[in-house]
Amino acid sequence: QNVKQVHRTGYHFQPKQNWINDPNGPMYYKGVYHLFYQYNPKGAVWGNIVWAHSVSTDLINWHPLEHAIFPSKPFDKYGCWSGSATILPGNKPVILYTGIVEGPPKNVQVQNYAIPANLSDPYLRKWIKPDNNPLVIANNGENSTAFRDPTTAWLDKSGHWKMLVGSKRHQRGIAYLYRSKDFIKWTKAKHPIHSQAETGMWECPDFFPVSLKGLNGLDTSVTGENVKHVLKVSLDITRYEYYTVGTYFTEKDRYVPDNTLVDGWAGLRYDYGNFYASKTFFDPSKNRRILWGWANESDSAEHDVTKGWAGIQLIPRTLWLDPSGKQLMQWPIEELETLRGSKVELSKKQKLGKGHLVEVKGITAAQADVEVTFSFGSLEKAEPFDPKWLQYDAQKICSLKGSTVQGGLGPFGLLTLASEKLEEYTPVFFRVFKAQNTHKVLMCSDATRSSLMKGLYTPSFAGFVDVDIAVDKKISLRSLIDNSVVESFGAKGRTCISSRVYPTLAVYENAHLYVFNNGSETITVENLDAWSMRKPLRMN
Ligand code: FRU
Repeated sequence: QNVKQVHRTGYHFQPKQNWINDPNGPMYYKGVYHLFYQYNPKGAVWGNIVWAHSVSTDLINWHPLEHAIFPSKPFDKYGCWSGSATILPGNKPVILYTGIVEGPPKNVQVQNYAIPANLSDPYLRKWIKPDNNPLVIANNGENSTAFRDPTTAWLDKSGHWKMLVGSKRHQRGIAYLYRSKDFIKWTKAKHPIHSQAETGMWECPDFFPVSLKGLNGLDTSVTGENVKHVLKVSLDITRYEYYTVGTYFTEKDRYVPDNTLVDGWAGLRYDYGNFYASKTFFDPSKNRRILWGWANESDSAEHDVTKGWAGIQLIPRTLWLDPSGKQLMQWPIEELETLRGSKVELSKKQKLGKGHLVEVKGITAAQADVEVTFSFGSLEKAEPFDPKWLQYDAQKICSLKGSTVQGGLGPFGLLTLASEKLEEYTPVFFRVFKAQNTHKVLMCSDATRSSLMKGLYTPSFAGFVDVDIAVDKKISLRSLIDNSVVESFGAKGRTCISSRVYPTLAVYENAHLYVFNNGSETITVENLDAWSMRKPLRMN
């Protein structure tokens, strides 16, 4: 077995080799999707950061180009860190990014811009970093070593551009707001657009409008009636991302999260697993907002060096506001379905009694797309939700109540990347609990038993699913399985969880897929469709 390559992905974005992290400046320009990303040209660990650049016409097949932005000037001598693209009127893209400059102190962060050398090249191969950089420096009390990741800018009605820069002051996370008339001269607003005590550094902020009416995405400058705003930050301390939905008061340039939501690290997440430093962009060709997120490795740095690579981008997701206004919904971009090959269906209405395990045969289980809907007759057997768990997060409950701990209504779900004798498997499953006057639905993606290899990070990732399970009496799950990735969408994209796992036996044709039920209530598999997934023709 070539240990070096069994964990490479088949259809998730990754370059041939080396370290990658954050997606940067995604955009659509003249029929071409652009993805830039943080990249170390010299190895499989973080360092020497440049903006690598790949282009695609379908978000599936990717062509690598030369690095777009790399250290070459005093204003980015020690690194070209994360940033975003904005399309200026007249269809002129511009990139804002963080440059690392000579201190003291070490690692001073400034905000720079870059523009295409040739607007008639749809691939935007060459970028110019004009000499009037940097545009923004920390000279007003900002923390110069925690001052980075400029957002896509938006234009207000009076012709002012606005953008955010992530920061912190002591342990207060901050998104500073800057304004400009000409995109060159930027002035800090008196108040940040938002901040939150005790959350630490806000990396990679993202701020964008979502529609209260329908699934369409909105261009970043849209405001007005039937529009809410989303603020997402990546918290350095927990290494997770959090978002709120709220109101953007355009006059005052303040964002106020809806008070039904928790602002901070007990709040909502795009993904309850391995998903960080994400960024959205508006795709005008299909009127949708697309989310890109990075998943790092869960193996050791030594293993990464042996593999020769580390980090992937997860599948781009279309994202929209749930009609309730209380959370976002996400779904893999429709283009992914073009990679679906041979399909198998489980016979409809298959019953899963307590302890049942049914194999889904006939697909490449190591590289697959599975959609399943489970139903059940009654919630009577749902286990009680222990009130002391109210202080726990979902992950802790999942680690106590894993897939092998027998339950009432659940655990039921998929066993992905399973070896024949179940020495290895990654279950993605639901458990329903009866709490006071309500039910709680827990979704888990549990890496505890994913590999016989030592030295791996194997968390029991989990999130709650906000559904009215007593009314629905069914719940769906879609999992994108890709050799070392299990990326799952519960209840049509209401709760998403991504795991990185490194099976040693359950690889290639030795990987198996099962549906299981380990609860006393019988579960019906209403329908299950699974596809072998092809590799894109071109992946970097
Ligand atoms: C997030 C991050 C950003 C920074 C970049 C450096 O993963 O730390 O804040 O710009 O990565 O590579």
